[in-house]
Amino acid sequence: MSELLSLPLPATADTLRLRETVADWRSQGLKIAFVPTMGALHQGHLSLISKAQKVADRVVVSIFVNPAQFAPGEDFDAYPRTLSTDAQYLAEANCDLLYAPRASDMYPQGFSARLILEGPASGLESDFRPHFFGGVAIVVAKFFNRVQPDIALFGEKDYQQLLVIRQMVTDLDLPIQIVAGETLRGADGLALSSRNAYLSESDRGIAASLNHILTGFATDLSRGFDWETAQGKALAKAANAFDRVDYIEARCANTLAHLPGGPARQPTRVLAAVWLGDTRLIDNVAVSLPGADFDQLAP
Ligand code: PAF
Repeated sequence: MSELLSLPLPATADTLRLRETVADWRSQGLKIAFVPTMGALHQGHLSLISKAQKVADRVVVSIFVNPAQFAPGEDFDAYPRTLSTDAQYLAEANCDLLYAPRASDMYPQGFSARLILEGPASGLESDFRPHFFGGVAIVVAKFFNRVQPDIALFGEKDYQQLLVIRQMVTDLDLPIQIVAGETLRGADGLALSSRNAYLSESDRGIAASLNHILTGFATDLSRGFDWETAQGKALAKAANAFDRVDYIEARCANTLAHLPGGPARQPTRVLAAVWLGDTRLIDNVAVSLPGADFDQLAP
């Protein structure tokens, strides 16, 4: 038996036990962090958990492949489900509580609430997956109500999702601090994602080029090139490498609003979604704008 498999599993909780456990921790004055996931855990999730442990006394992780954020025809059925391995990883990571509700518990018969989001939810992902943020927001709002965390952690890999959740928490007056976790990458630059399991060995090399294309785009912006020129160059490279490009854009890093024409002069993020066969990849990179003048586009 591997060392991993011999570890005791973290307590798994049904909703009543979750509420009782969290209430007990709260009565002891403990700070609670929450990391929502859809499972198929990788180092990116584990780094969020490790960050959560640094800022809170107890960490709750949820695993739930949320049907509300998949449209018909998307990969809901194919999405990797690895609950027992995930539980072992969580044991190794000293996670305090694993909450993995059933779909019928989250969305019982007659469930009819919907959340409509604008601001950072507008455009980008929403142009191609219009159902997505409504589905994410409703499940995250339900988890927030059930877990009642002080802090919740979301990865920057899903940058638009992070901003949407931040805005939702502000708009709904939820007393929860949203903390971002850095994107973890393989040595080739590919952002860690549960969906990387869909990629063949040869696809992986192509998938990794997305990060290089975005890094080149970000470098051009930090060198002072107007974003339309830099975007055109990035788009051409992506169109060459991938089967389809949903978007490659530079946006305000704080709001995801469109940038005015010309060089980027405010905190900026470049974001992309592309397709490799049936696999959709998303990634994003921060742009550093030192204000220096350069006269050459990055290769
Ligand atoms: O980022 C994810 O894994 C999901 O969108 C989330 C936040 C767990 C909601 O289902």
